[in-house]
Amino acid sequence: MVAERIDGKEFAAGLRSKVAEHVSRLKSDKGLTPGLAVVLVGEDPASQVYVRSKGRQTVEAGMKSFEHKLSDDTSEAELLALIDQLNNDADVHGILVQLPLPKHLNESLVINAIAPEKDVDGFHISNVGRLATGQSAMVPCTPLGCLLLLRDRLGDLSGLNAVVVGRSNIVGKPMAQLLLAKSCTVTVTHSRTRDIEKVCREADILVAAVGRPEMVKGSWIKPGATVIDVGINWIEKPEGGTRLVGDVDYDSASQIAGAITPVPGGVGPMTIACLLANTVTACCRSNGLEAPADLVN
Ligand code: GUN
Repeated sequence: MVAERIDGKEFAAGLRSKVAEHVSRLKSDKGLTPGLAVVLVGEDPASQVYVRSKGRQTVEAGMKSFEHKLSDDTSEAELLALIDQLNNDADVHGILVQLPLPKHLNESLVINAIAPEKDVDGFHISNVGRLATGQSAMVPCTPLGCLLLLRDRLGDLSGLNAVVVGRSNIVGKPMAQLLLAKSCTVTVTHSRTRDIEKVCREADILVAAVGRPEMVKGSWIKPGATVIDVGINWIEKPEGGTRLVGDVDYDSASQIAGAITPVPGGVGPMTIACLLANTVTACCRSNGLEAPADLVN
């Protein structure tokens, strides 16, 4: 069996055009332009690429983009002062502080300084708690993107066995919460899990988010399972240069799975599309309007 390739690039393009339609209607009907502020501290090359891409796609969707690039030695007080300013800026509906932050800055302190209703990353403790308790919340963009792809392929997820490989705050934990909210039976595995391969082989849905290149092999996968690969790993090629691979060994996994996301072109493009959707949601809610139902539900 050769797995169906789940095209996240195409799905994300569709979501971005729906976002753009909502933005256009908010402008013409309500005189509102959703605005997203992105804060980057330091010179991390991967973060610079992501931030540039976020800014470009925000503008392409018709929204306002506010980029704040701060030097590596920015103090916590300076960063908190900027967040306070953005919290109080009516043109800014979403705030994202790119992670990781330089070591001298306290990540949770900084994230929890963002107004929860502008926390389009869904990392604020209040959004984390709201998601865990089934209340409406800002949902982290990457797991939200994974869920949209899963629901598009599988429809109702209820009763399915879902295994999440990785327990990060950004992907693994919120992914598990989202799957649980859709009535999956959820197992979260990590570096201490015993016989991880056997656990994975029980999965109807397998989400790999560990940051270890090609760790999940075809032999770990239940025949016909749906596999979502969140990994973005650059590895050295034997002939020199680098190539991008996921956390799943695509060649062997695609012989066993029913469907699988490629890397690149799978989950990656979904993250920014969901960020744009969350920004529209935040803009609507902050103006007493109902958030569009067709974006991320
Ligand atoms: N760094 C890696 N992924 C993310 C993300 O989704 N949001 C933020 N703010 N930083 C990240």
